[in-house]
Amino acid sequence: MNQPREHWGSNMGFILAATGSAIGLGNLWKFPFITWQNNGGAFVLLYLMCIAAVGLPIMMAELLIGRKTQKSAVGALKEAIGPLWGWVGAWGVMAGFIILSYYSVVAGWSLFYFVKTVGWSVGGFPAGLQTGDLFAEIVGNGGLQSLLSALFMAATVGIVYFGIHGGIERVARIFLPVLFAILLLLLVSALSMDGAGAALTFIFRPNFSELEPGSVLEALGHSFFTLSLGMGAMITYGSYVARGRSIVSAAGTIVLLDTLIALFATIIMFSVIFSVPGMDEQVNKSAAGMLFISLPQLFYEVVPFGAILGPLFYVLVALAALTSTISLLEVVVSYFIDEHKMARPKATLLSGGSIFVFTILSALSFGSVPGLSNFEIFEGKPGVFATLDHFASNWALPLGGLLITLGAGWFMTRQATETELVDETTPRWFNYGAWRFFMRFVAPVAVAAILVAVIFFGVDFS
Ligand code: PHE
Repeated sequence: MNQPREHWGSNMGFILAATGSAIGLGNLWKFPFITWQNNGGAFVLLYLMCIAAVGLPIMMAELLIGRKTQKSAVGALKEAIGPLWGWVGAWGVMAGFIILSYYSVVAGWSLFYFVKTVGWSVGGFPAGLQTGDLFAEIVGNGGLQSLLSALFMAATVGIVYFGIHGGIERVARIFLPVLFAILLLLLVSALSMDGAGAALTFIFRPNFSELEPGSVLEALGHSFFTLSLGMGAMITYGSYVARGRSIVSAAGTIVLLDTLIALFATIIMFSVIFSVPGMDEQVNKSAAGMLFISLPQLFYEVVPFGAILGPLFYVLVALAALTSTISLLEVVVSYFIDEHKMARPKATLLSGGSIFVFTILSALSFGSVPGLSNFEIFEGKPGVFATLDHFASNWALPLGGLLITLGAGWFMTRQATETELVDETTPRWFNYGAWRFFMRFVAPVAVAAILVAVIFFGVDFS
């Protein structure tokens, strides 16, 4: 059963699909609240530095390993670096499995809030409704949680089933432009609000005296998550790029778009929050709930055209999450296709089905099933959902990222990487010597620092 490998139909399709993988809940949910918790300005600057110094070079490395070998994570790392590196790929497949299982629970919430906001837009926002209570009620409802995440998982499986060109690329080509359009609309509306000035100052004026040591590491950890690095997703997407197409400028575009979207999302949310006197106090109480607790009601109180923009906003979250979940599933599916010669439909249903078992466990771990909600493996992270998230963001991605960096920087020859990165398609801003220096020294030292911090100082990134 040796079918020729599928390829992206066009360079644009590839860039949109990979950008879709990068842009997700990391940008819309996580980045705004960690920026809030870390006092803005200086943290944002640090994050931008991590993206440029660590994220961008590793993005190029993953894409090059994929394109060079035309294999997904396990096979690619084995062939490009060495037999033992297959284990790094397997670690990545496991990380994809785990992240997808709990990520689809949060993605399910966006569906819920879409339906809710449509209802409020039509019928009016109920007087006296406490959005914090509403949130607690839905996450504690096991049946609803399972249903929402099942819908999301079904959509993910349904797309990956149709393959690279007919499934993933097609969806990215439609959804990404829609996503950009909705976001620009929201941005324009947010910038017209009273709080916009305060929001921009908070985000872009660095005040280093407010920065805590843990923030440095949090910025670095998040740059892996948001760019889908450290677990083979970009290796896998790179493996569907035909030889002879530039990956350097593709990497640049993906990283730039992902960063812009994270900043736009943050500007939008903070403009809304700063437009309401005293709202910042309330957000301080539960920054992680910004997207689902603080924001929903503000669409009906302060946002111009909020009744239209509210539901659109939650559609945006759902679409962004979906183009990420398909990349997570593809990492697992492509492993079965490439390494076990399984046909795509079977591999997709098998992977989706087994991941969904863990999704259910996550979905039930917000109080609806006490046994799943209360145990603590990592201190302060009770239940299946928090445990999986903590393990993936703090252990799986940084460790995978470190090994991929060391492999590409130290175990692949200069010639092997140079011929992949430098050709007639390479843009002028790219300097191979600088890339190699970042891969060999800057990135490994930075990533090793995260791991040491997690292991020895118990720093928490999730
Ligand atoms: N990058 C995605 C986000 O920001 C999450 C993700 C991580 C997707 C790893 C694929 C692989 O939401």
